[in-house]
Amino acid sequence: MPEDAADSAAGRTRLGPRHVAIIMDGNGRWATQRGRPRLFGHHAGAQRVREIVESCPDYGVEYLTVFAFSTENWKRTQAEVAGLMNLFRGYIRREARALLANDVRVRFIGDRVRLDAKLTGLMDELEAMTAGCAGTNLTVALNYGGRDEVARATKRLAEDVGRGRLRPEDVDEETLPRYLDTCVLPDPDLVIRTSGEARISNFLLWQSAYSEYEFVDTLWPDFTREEFRRLLESYGRRDRRFGGVPAQGAAAR
Ligand code: FPP
Repeated sequence: MPEDAADSAAGRTRLGPRHVAIIMDGNGRWATQRGRPRLFGHHAGAQRVREIVESCPDYGVEYLTVFAFSTENWKRTQAEVAGLMNLFRGYIRREARALLANDVRVRFIGDRVRLDAKLTGLMDELEAMTAGCAGTNLTVALNYGGRDEVARATKRLAEDVGRGRLRPEDVDEETLPRYLDTCVLPDPDLVIRTSGEARISNFLLWQSAYSEYEFVDTLWPDFTREEFRRLLESYGRRDRRFGGVPAQGAAAR
């Protein structure tokens, strides 16, 4: 059965993007507005992750990548960093069963070297446990920075050149991404950032070269599956040119 027919038979609608990446911003402000500590906002944000992940099959989103902790987030207070690490451990323990039941394959990207062994152990376990899942592909960026990722990839590439496994003249736009943390993922079609900030903040720098962007004012803990749906529908009306000319009929839209 063709993919679209199979989707409609299963009651799913592909609204447009196959891979959506989200910069989940605004947890701190959301908590502050309520007179609560910042971590309260992060916990509320984690609830939204579940809602959005679970909406993906209904909207035909095959890949969802979320920015959970950046290489720059270590600059926050020790208490906030420790609270976030604790939240990530708790999230993996609590959500593992539901993720498996929902056929979600989980992957983590970012540099694990600075993360504690208990957390990386849980990350490994969750990746292994969900490796056979064929539904939504959830990628969690943890201690992730786009520049750091490109630097680590370049280091591994240079090592391969040094060992004679790769010839410098064979390095091109196809070769380098094979060394990135995202090597098994398609590039994101749509990147969403919440909380009214219009910047990329070192997220998926290489991969988002031709992504569409949506910057919305909603703070992440208020971001609902309905708003997600509206953004996906709006993406479906865009004309992606990848540096080319407008598609035929695009002007009429
Ligand atoms: C940015 O908001 C958010 C973060 C640095 C943390 C994101 C983490 C979560 C949403 C929690 C759980 C995620 C997973 C995958 C379990 P901010 O703190 O910078 O907000 P602010 O700009 O209002 O201060």
